[in-house]
Amino acid sequence: MALVLHDVQDGISTVTINRPDKLNAMNIDVANELVEVFTGINLDDTIKCVILTGSGDKAFSAGADISYMSKITPDESVIYAQLGQKVTNTIEQTRQPVIAAVNGFALGGGCEVAMSCDVRIASERARLGQPEVTIGIPPGWGGTQRLMRLVGIAHAKDLVYTGRMVKADEAFLIGLVNRVVPHDELMNEARSMADMICKNSAMGVQMSKVAMNRGRNSDLDTGLSIELLVWRNCFTHPDRTDMMNAFLSKSKK
Ligand code: COA
Repeated sequence: MALVLHDVQDGISTVTINRPDKLNAMNIDVANELVEVFTGINLDDTIKCVILTGSGDKAFSAGADISYMSKITPDESVIYAQLGQKVTNTIEQTRQPVIAAVNGFALGGGCEVAMSCDVRIASERARLGQPEVTIGIPPGWGGTQRLMRLVGIAHAKDLVYTGRMVKADEAFLIGLVNRVVPHDELMNEARSMADMICKNSAMGVQMSKVAMNRGRNSDLDTGLSIELLVWRNCFTHPDRTDMMNAFLSKSKK
């Protein structure tokens, strides 16, 4: 059985971390499969949006594999964290927008993977956190960096130093998730957002993603220069002519 399931329908790819008996904890095999699946998605022009979720109704992912980490050497720990950072970087740099449908626990690496997605929709049952310090380590799959960029350094330090889990409503309050929905409506909500994205110009959406992701780590002038480049790029694409003409001729759907 694959540890990462991948299904494509109507331009929407659904990727499911599939190790439910271990709450979708990401061992080396899961991590490698995630990199492989997202690398493939990035090369597939038929895919316009991605939804990432976890198998079962208990966990998105309970993080890196503690049973493996309990036995490895410091050097092996670096290789494992580099793999984890490759997972989060590959997801973040996927051309298409990625929506995390957080269906339960998203802890440690699970929270870090959710944060590498563009948008997070949480079930009311979701519990998010960075509990690494409770097992003797700091976050290592991007959590010390992405969490503070997402929620600000004060909330990030609160979560990382205490290791506490936050419920979906608090995650929403601090900006860790975009919206919270009843558990049974989670996938419908994610699909309906994906449908809206798919109706737009893939070029326009993907260039916006590049500008926002690159700009976030740059100064304003550099970010604005990136914006000009992606803006011009879109004026070379047929979507611009087709979609603007459809608006002007009032045939826009
Ligand atoms: N790595 C490896 N295995 C994990 C895991 C992880 N991160 N998280 C859960 N599991 C395994 C458990 O060992 C257990 O396996 P078993 O049935 O073979 O004993 C199984 O998944 C179910 O977990 P369990 O702890 O029994 O479920 P629970 O409902 O009592 O508790 C959690 C759920 C999420 C609160 C708890 O599993 C937990 O705290 N997990 C670790 C979270 C964490 O610290 N992640 C950061 C890692 S850096």
